[in-house]
Amino acid sequence: MPQKFFITTPMYYVNDKPHIGHTYTTILVDVIARHRRMMGDDVFFLTGTDEHGQKIGKVASELGITPQQLVDDVAPNFENLWKKMGLTHDYFVRTTHKTHKDLVQKRFKELLAKGDIYKAEYEGLYSVSDEAFVTEMQVKELQAQGLGHTLTTLKEESYFFRLSAYENWLIQLFDRYPEFVVPEFRLNEVKQFVAPNGERGHLQDLSISRTSISWGIPVPGDEKHVMYVWFDALHSYMSGCKDGYWPPKAQVIGKDILRFHAVYWPAFLMAEFREEGDALDGELPDRIRKQLPHAVLTHGWWLMGDTKISKSLGNIVRPKELLHFGNDAARYFLLRDMQIGHDRSFTFEGYMERLNADLANGLGNLASRTISMIHRYRGGSVPAPAKWDDADNDIKGLIAKAGPEYLEKMEQYNFSGALDGLWGMLRGLDGYIVKSEPWNLAKSESNSAKLDTVLAQLYRALRLTAVLASPVMPEMCQTLWESLGLQGRAADQKFAKLAVEAPAPGPVKEAKPLFARIDKDSAIAEIGAQQAVPTASAQKPDVPELRETTDYDTFCKTDLRVGKILEAERVPKSDKLIKMKVDIGLEIRTIVGGIGKAYEPAQLVGKSVVVVANLAPRKLMGIESHGMLLCASDNNSKPYLIAPTDDALPGFLVK
Ligand code: MSP
Repeated sequence: MPQKFFITTPMYYVNDKPHIGHTYTTILVDVIARHRRMMGDDVFFLTGTDEHGQKIGKVASELGITPQQLVDDVAPNFENLWKKMGLTHDYFVRTTHKTHKDLVQKRFKELLAKGDIYKAEYEGLYSVSDEAFVTEMQVKELQAQGLGHTLTTLKEESYFFRLSAYENWLIQLFDRYPEFVVPEFRLNEVKQFVAPNGERGHLQDLSISRTSISWGIPVPGDEKHVMYVWFDALHSYMSGCKDGYWPPKAQVIGKDILRFHAVYWPAFLMAEFREEGDALDGELPDRIRKQLPHAVLTHGWWLMGDTKISKSLGNIVRPKELLHFGNDAARYFLLRDMQIGHDRSFTFEGYMERLNADLANGLGNLASRTISMIHRYRGGSVPAPAKWDDADNDIKGLIAKAGPEYLEKMEQYNFSGALDGLWGMLRGLDGYIVKSEPWNLAKSESNSAKLDTVLAQLYRALRLTAVLASPVMPEMCQTLWESLGLQGRAADQKFAKLAVEAPAPGPVKEAKPLFARIDKDSAIAEIGAQQAVPTASAQKPDVPELRETTDYDTFCKTDLRVGKILEAERVPKSDKLIKMKVDIGLEIRTIVGGIGKAYEPAQLVGKSVVVVANLAPRKLMGIESHGMLLCASDNNSKPYLIAPTDDALPGFLVK
């Protein structure tokens, strides 16, 4: 029986049109859903809209229409966009659906009967922008975020949820099942909210109804109250879930709504699944843990400069701009460039650079070269490998570990690491082509077996990439799959059945271009120059002090040149040093570099670098090094090789 895998996006507020933030979350879920299907799971992917609340009521009255008219008008913005982007959600739930409203009212009544909901007087602060009741401590947090939260004082009769009674079980959930919040550092924030510095007794009951607003689900039997929008919206995960798929395996959210998902939501569920005789001050029963979401996957924000992209700030990247280069390009970029849990600054510059480097040059170029060589040298038939020397075996090893490593990282929701690793293999293959020079091998019959091996390995690696990356770039991987002469759909393959070394079932087809190189200037003009302004990085590395001023002539004494790495191997007994042969236009140099902890030799071959060419030779572990490669680095982290663009040729001066 395949594992059931229920996955959700947040339910989006309909007072805003979709932007990069919503698009990111939904793409992330789509990638996971597709990936899980290829893992063999039986997936149910739910998304939808959160349509009640004060904000909607307010916007509708400003527009002079009913809230229902407003939500009916705008909810399709989301669903249509997801359809246009080819997303694979199984159901789109709306909190104004009758089935949803019925479920929420039923749950409310049950909790009232159990004593987990009671009526009392609420007096305190309410954040309109967050649709949340807030304590004094939270007010300070909100003010520190500086995102313009509107606060009002409320005094009204309200129904309360007995949140404080669930403190003990919540703490056990966090301590015994730390996988409940991914990444783990976000769990600490949740713990801190429930029990600041480990101290108990801070969790207050939660007001879950309002009498002063009308756009919401009425409290059954006491209709002047409407339900608190979060009590309502969180239950859409349940009302939208198909029978047999509960509980969610992953609920993907942004960090701003973590508290609702990791504190209120499990507490509501604990109360709902609690049975007579379960002691709230005792152990959290396993039976109840099994009904809670397995993991709340929490991502960071896309920022413009240092500020969150949001409607109220007007610094929006809309899907239209983001999708300018195609759906797959946006998907690849959003997953590759964001490390789950952290924030990331968005610039169109960075976006286009990533696409050019990884999709046009990286995968696209490798695929078209490989397929055209198979046509040119073997009439389109993929040969079986015939002869293995050390370099071939290195590449064989690189391909063999690429799959398991990719899948392991995806399992940990480390999308950026998984893609980085896979593209590391592609770079290794580029180097393999440079080093083995198939065009020279083809000149002599005696090298035929070696050429077979090179072509077969390139083909295998591309076939592997078409399957592994298919959840991320379904269209592009399908094109590649077909160009490789493979039948059916890449997306229908199962990872477990991947036979990396299987022979090709038939000849390759014509190589269809995968991704056209972007001309940045014209793309910026097309998109509209406004967003193209590069913004400062959001990350703050440990930046070294500025060095003392030097004059231009002194600077010019250093001979900096473009070089291309032709060969690379580790220096025996050193985990840091790599010995390289580097073409610097004038000659081929031996250079020993201390970059072995950051780079694998196979990744280096074929890379363009900047060489300090007039440095006096120096012996490192007995090998004479004739130059140095320029790297960027802060005070602590790894070296980052400086890479000139690919069209700068070996020997060009850097000045
Ligand atoms: N309606 C609630 C969710 C209810 S779930 C039961 C809500 N809606 S939202 O439309 O405001 O936001 C939905 C998601 O978009 C959140 O996960 C939020 O983090 C994400 N993003 C909104 N702006 C974002 C960025 N700039 N960057 C990344 N994601 C952010 O909250």
